[in-house]
Amino acid sequence: MTVKITVLSENTSGTAEGLLAEHGLSLYIEKDDQRILFDTGQGATVIANNALRLGVDLTDIDAIVISHGHSDHAGGLAHVLGLNKRELPVHVHPLVFEDKFSIQKASDGSDILRDIGVRYTRGYLESFGARFEVSTEAHEIFPNVLLTGQIPRVTDFENTTTRLRVRRDGELIPDHVLDEHSIIIRTEKGLILLLGCCHPGLINTIKYAIQITGETRFAAVIGGTHLMFHTEERLQQTIAALHNFDIQLIGTSHCTGSKANALIRSQFPDRFMECNVGSVVTLD
Ligand SMILES: [Fe+2]
Repeated sequence: MTVKITVLSENTSGTAEGLLAEHGLSLYIEKDDQRILFDTGQGATVIANNALRLGVDLTDIDAIVISHGHSDHAGGLAHVLGLNKRELPVHVHPLVFEDKFSIQKASDGSDILRDIGVRYTRGYLESFGARFEVSTEAHEIFPNVLLTGQIPRVTDFENTTTRLRVRRDGELIPDHVLDEHSIIIRTEKGLILLLGCCHPGLINTIKYAIQITGETRFAAVIGGTHLMFHTEERLQQTIAALHNFDIQLIGTSHCTGSKANALIRSQFPDRFMECNVGSVVTLD
């Protein structure tokens, strides 16, 4: 079995000519006869440019997984659905369409509430052929391809929110992004774990993948780790904890950041790669 992962959208573009970067993530996964799109970036780079330049045919995919309901992951969803002639399963957590915000500082020091939720309504996406598959539980979507469902927070250092908010029952409350789930692909050499933004915490996600599958070997952990948004202390704790796991390849993207990348590279020099736009990881 060969699994091929192509990075379509990410914060940095690789060296191939004409690729575009954006703050977002989209991974195109080919396994056996299945073609799965994991997230859709903010939209423009994937649809108008990168898929074309990377030879990825977005008109013929089998399923879409949206990691969580933020616009840098779901922004291209309507466009991708529109490219496909048939109805497509779109796997999400039930909280994906909640009104989500981040609090940012204005130049005068005041707080600004920025809308970072999914830009489309469920009905609008269904009119483009989305058939939503909604679950909070771990389950298989294709043979040996699983979704984690909602990820338990078990570590004591991975506090999941500071500046994120969600509007629930008319009230703005801290958002722990409970809707984020990850993809697990079982292979003979261990699990391939694909991360959207890792709001639940990298170590929480790895631990839950082991709990679900009973497998402790990871052929690869690839995607956004959210480490650029955390304190130095948490970054160090996360990287120290990574040493406790058997991971053959750590491929970071999106919200990892240059500092975390440098630290992970220094501690796992023979097992690290940056997964930028145009990166292709093939695992047998
Ligand atoms: Fe993100």
